[in-house]
Amino acid sequence: MPTRIFLTSGDLMADRRYDFARDLQLKGDLAGAADLLLQATELAPNFVTAWFTLGDIRETLGERDAAIAAFRKAWAGDPDDRHGASLRLMRLGAEPLAEMPQGYVKVLFDQYAKRFESALVDDLGYRGPELLFRAVLSVRAASRKPAFFNRAIDLGCGTGLVATAFAREVDHFIGIDLSPRMIEKARLSGFYAELEVADIVQGLRGRLDASADLILAADVMIYVADLAPVLIEAQRVLSAGGLFAFTTETHGGDGVILGAGLRYAHAAAHVRASVEAAGLTLSLLEDRSARTEDNIPVPGLVAVASKT
Ligand SMILES: C[S@@+](CC[C@H](N)C(=O)[O-])C[C@H]1O[C@@H](n2cnc3c(N)ncnc32)[C@H](O)[C@@H]1O
Repeated sequence: MPTRIFLTSGDLMADRRYDFARDLQLKGDLAGAADLLLQATELAPNFVTAWFTLGDIRETLGERDAAIAAFRKAWAGDPDDRHGASLRLMRLGAEPLAEMPQGYVKVLFDQYAKRFESALVDDLGYRGPELLFRAVLSVRAASRKPAFFNRAIDLGCGTGLVATAFAREVDHFIGIDLSPRMIEKARLSGFYAELEVADIVQGLRGRLDASADLILAADVMIYVADLAPVLIEAQRVLSAGGLFAFTTETHGGDGVILGAGLRYAHAAAHVRASVEAAGLTLSLLEDRSARTEDNIPVPGLVAVASKT
């Protein structure tokens, strides 16, 4: 699900050239489109959308250095990096792995909010909430404790699919998400007592110690490179015996990588080490795919970390 936003250059002629370039790009004339985009950036040197599109085309044409130069211009012209040029630079190996720009995540999901459920659930067979539900029930059953929770925090709550899955098991649901449009949808679900537009780490930082007995994050850690800050805050916010259940995408190597779909994948050993380093106990770690891509299950993990 790529973002496609248009940030006007403020110059009518340059914007027109961009429109023509997009026409050519869609028709498959990439060299012609690149020429027009260069003309547009000559007219408007800070035309971020033109630079980003040029980077995209250069990358498709296999012109790595020119792609890197164009993505750098796009990033420099928009410090919020709403196009995600820095991610493209990471993928090209031109920048070290870093966190996803918040401006990009916000645009991505604001754009996606209306068709999120049909696109993810119907088209990609998404089952993140169901995986968390089964995992939490299984951990509770193994410890012979009831699967009922007074206060749950749904990190990256999106439209509210997790709260829907856990509605009978949770008394008071708090949803946190960066995207205001996703939060609007979550509000309409009627399952949340509180909703907050915030980054998940910032949102957790605003919560009191031991104030939740369940924290959930379905298909959210794929937008987080470094798990440590989230796990450390979750450990603080959970009450004794509380659970943090989350899904990730995974890969066969070590550590964290940014995959072709511009989502992070965390190796199983890395998840285990991160959970333990945060002072939590890993109660469950299973290979489970939360979605398909091109009809192939995307390798994934479901994890439940407990606070003792
Ligand atoms: C793929 S959706 C999953 C939504 C929901 N958890 C579900 O299972 O349907 C990912 C959500 O995480 C949110 N998100 C990603 N990174 C975030 C961050 N750092 N802080 C807050 N929300 C974030 C996005 O805005 C989006 O709504």
